[in-house]
Amino acid sequence: MSYFNDAFLVLKDIMINKKYLSPALSSVKTNNRNMVTQLVYGVLENNIKLNYIISQFVKKIDDIQLQIILNIGTYSLTELTNVPNYAIVNECVNVCKKNKLFKYTGLVNACLKKVAQNNYALPENNENPHNLSILYSKPIWFIRKLIKRFGIEQTKKIIINSKSNNTIRINQNLIMAQEFKNLLLKNNVKHEDTILNNVLIVDEKDIKNIDNSLYTHQSLGSVLIVDCFSNDNPSTILDCCASPGGKAIYMEEKFNCTVVACDIHQHRVELIKKYANRLKAKNIVATLQDSTITNSNFINKFDKILCDVPCSGSGTFISKPDIFLDMQEDFSELNNIQLHILNNCCKYLKNNGELIYSTCSILEEENDNIIKKFLNENKEFYVEKVALPIKSYTTQFGTTMLPNISGTEGFFVTKLRRK
Ligand SMILES: C[S@@+](CC[C@H](N)C(=O)[O-])C[C@H]1O[C@@H](n2cnc3c(N)ncnc32)[C@H](O)[C@@H]1O
Repeated sequence: MSYFNDAFLVLKDIMINKKYLSPALSSVKTNNRNMVTQLVYGVLENNIKLNYIISQFVKKIDDIQLQIILNIGTYSLTELTNVPNYAIVNECVNVCKKNKLFKYTGLVNACLKKVAQNNYALPENNENPHNLSILYSKPIWFIRKLIKRFGIEQTKKIIINSKSNNTIRINQNLIMAQEFKNLLLKNNVKHEDTILNNVLIVDEKDIKNIDNSLYTHQSLGSVLIVDCFSNDNPSTILDCCASPGGKAIYMEEKFNCTVVACDIHQHRVELIKKYANRLKAKNIVATLQDSTITNSNFINKFDKILCDVPCSGSGTFISKPDIFLDMQEDFSELNNIQLHILNNCCKYLKNNGELIYSTCSILEEENDNIIKKFLNENKEFYVEKVALPIKSYTTQFGTTMLPNISGTEGFFVTKLRRK
């Protein structure tokens, strides 16, 4: 069962070396990948709860490596039904030995045996944010903010750990949706429809044999944000925070026009170019640009503008269970950048043009509060209602997609029109 050790190495990469989840997982041998993925996701999704259980047996843990081994063991003992408890305890002791952490073997053995005997307590699932933080493994500040906004019952439904679907968007510049589905059938790639004709749920490993210029991994929420723009033959679109380019490339396909795709980092501009080349999107102009600084050549030039601003990513905890690991409660610096980008880029819009502001966060301070401040400072703009084909949580400043009601991850979108 070398997957216990593989999971330990991946979690070390994420928690100590600060690697992102997907690249860390991609280093795992394919024959172990499923089990390792299950363990890694399980530990990250239940991190706070696992720490809480372990703290009942070990008072203080100074070494993150020890914490990771105990978390893997505790997750496996409490959630995996197909591996016997003695084997889990043995495997965790072996992980200590394989990694020259001999001093922890006794402690790991003793602590996990107590977990196996269910010798621990969990708090009551009531309205107390401390309790919910432990039971749902989300930071307490996040729970408090959600309760304030959505109320206790809705918050519990939002924060539940559910599985995310692996969705792809069909590149209709190159192939029509039905033709692509026929191609999948011919290649025995199982797929499921979504509410959008151009987005399918597929198995990641099955789709690998299909020509990757014909599709791209893109979430339903991301596609729906672009679909909020009206379909009125624009000639130029600006995507002011565009990398890696998923939305910019979809806009190029959908509106068949030039999309100026900016990003503040050169290496991220290169990602846009690479992505556009792969999907053979010819009308993407990838540009290095700090969108908080005015570019006089852009003033009044664009029919549509997308401000998919940098954000906390707090809505993406289903697909990125590591998102909260280093996240702090204070977003004021980020909020300044978000408002700054919006205040600056709105000048680039033609009269009667439309601007979409979006985030993959469900926190009010990155969403409604930014729009509220923006409208106070820019009286020539107003919010235009967007018609999403799914349920969402709507206020006067925009609409939030929530996992429990929208069937997507958490996104915020608002459409602003210039009078
Ligand atoms: C949420 S991501 C954009 C995702 C992209 N729209 C997509 O769908 O593929 C935000 C991007 O904004 C970029 N960014 C951050 N600050 C910026 C700024 N001041 N000007 C331009 N881009 C910025 C980041 O480098 C990051 O690539």
